[in-house]
Amino acid sequence: MRAALGCTAILLLPALPASAQGSLNLYCSATIEWCTPIARGFERESGIRVVLSQKSTGEMLAQLRAEARNPRGDVWWGGTGDPHVAAGEEGLTVAHESPRIAELHDWAQAQWRQTEGRTVGVYASVLGFGFNTELVARRNLPAPRCWADLLNPAYRGEIQMANPNSSGTAYIVIATLVQMMGEEPAFDYLKRLHGSINAYPRSGTAPITAVARGETALSISFVHNAAEEAAAGFPVGHAVPCEGTGYEIGSMSIIRGARNMANAQRFYHWALSAEAQIAASAEARKLQTMANRNVPLTDGAPNMATARIIDYDNARFGAGAERRRLLARWDREVGALPR
Ligand code: F6P
Repeated sequence: MRAALGCTAILLLPALPASAQGSLNLYCSATIEWCTPIARGFERESGIRVVLSQKSTGEMLAQLRAEARNPRGDVWWGGTGDPHVAAGEEGLTVAHESPRIAELHDWAQAQWRQTEGRTVGVYASVLGFGFNTELVARRNLPAPRCWADLLNPAYRGEIQMANPNSSGTAYIVIATLVQMMGEEPAFDYLKRLHGSINAYPRSGTAPITAVARGETALSISFVHNAAEEAAAGFPVGHAVPCEGTGYEIGSMSIIRGARNMANAQRFYHWALSAEAQIAASAEARKLQTMANRNVPLTDGAPNMATARIIDYDNARFGAGAERRRLLARWDREVGALPR
């Protein structure tokens, strides 16, 4: 089952044992295929009923802002790290500490420390390209290897990336290019790339889904999403850009004013455990690197240790003002251009 792309999905999960202790409103910015086993796994472990709501990361940040005076969510799990950092900075989420922090990879702990406990890493993945191997061969297109390759006129109309206003993935594309090239060259690149983009869907996973279905030849996506499509039997290849690339720290935060604070804290502790991460990622067939160091990399998962990744500046690109400025610039100078 795929989520209706870019739409909010609200699920009431199946009935629970009589021991159920209240409920938890879980805001989730991973795909619905992953949010659902996370929610069910916690229900099974705790007897707490989970009401699940799924949206892309930028959209969920907008919802948290809109609900600031009357918070409806308890925990925000998943989605790229920068909007979680912005939410922490804006006082929309609260600091929390679990004894499991010490079990996490350095990047997950660093996210927690840098935000003074307001958000913590739960998984990580590398940004790259996905491509439909059959379409690329049929159209006689070269497989992309480098950021520079995407400007090849042969790709005109063949590439998809998500809209950075809604999608955390696409915001990481902008932030990565700005860090690698400098802001002016990065925006020149994005303007030139615009001519080859056939759509900017709302969800970060929509472009790789389109690649898998043969609706577009190429996408800018996290490489684990491409590897998952290939593992599901679709003709999908992927590449980590030769010049280097950015990455996400998929994150988790407790929402300020959570009505079910004790349940939120219980979920937080559970979600950092190796057992929860192994079970939910196996059920959802996810190929990210999980935050708990005791979770082995699944067969077929891209290995972050071998990718050429930049020292992504989470503090700068997670800051609310910088995010608003870059998105406004993208809307004005790129999104508004004719194609
Ligand atoms: O669940 C898949 C995923 O690619 C995550 O790795 C990521 O955090 C999330 O989607 C980002 O989604 P979006 O770009 O729609 O905010």
